[in-house]
Amino acid sequence: MSNIQGISRLRNCIAGMTRIIDAAGNEADILARGEVALARLIAVDDWLPESCAKPDETSYRQYLLHCDPLERFSIVSFVWGPGQKTPIHDHTVWGLVGVLRGAEIERRYVRRGNTFIAGDEERLGPGSVARLSPADGDVHQVSNAFSAQVSISVHIYGANIGKVARHVFDRETGIPKTFISGYSNSEVPNVWV
Ligand code: FE2
Repeated sequence: MSNIQGISRLRNCIAGMTRIIDAAGNEADILARGEVALARLIAVDDWLPESCAKPDETSYRQYLLHCDPLERFSIVSFVWGPGQKTPIHDHTVWGLVGVLRGAEIERRYVRRGNTFIAGDEERLGPGSVARLSPADGDVHQVSNAFSAQVSISVHIYGANIGKVARHVFDRETGIPKTFISGYSNSEVPNVWV
């Protein structure tokens, strides 16, 4: 699926995001301009290296595609096997989620005392971009919309997300548990070709 012409789409997104972060004054501006850059990246599905598109039988995969040298943002491919889903979790930094292949279902949660109120499900199809902001509440649960096929989304976060200490939440008790996601790959794609 990936090719040398295609990888330039990722390189262009990295360059665009770097300019946005260099120039941006606030999170709203980053999210607005970043959404355009991400939408452009996921508009064509010909660039994601196979090594960053592999599902796993046991759990969804998170492959690092790029981390800003100053860790101001990172770009990750999220690969969902059939029927896989995340726990309820937060991010603690801004985020953009764009669907490249297949579809995913997102449900937001709002804390009420010791528990969470579930919002409506939202289905994101190819080309769709959703925003996450800790200021608006960034707690959600995401799943593959398909029970028999792989889905892939591309995420941009306002930090080196694999190193960020954040939280999963128990649905009934609201009790948080700290986790650090790490990445599923030890190498990143070579975009300098
Ligand atoms: Fe998330």
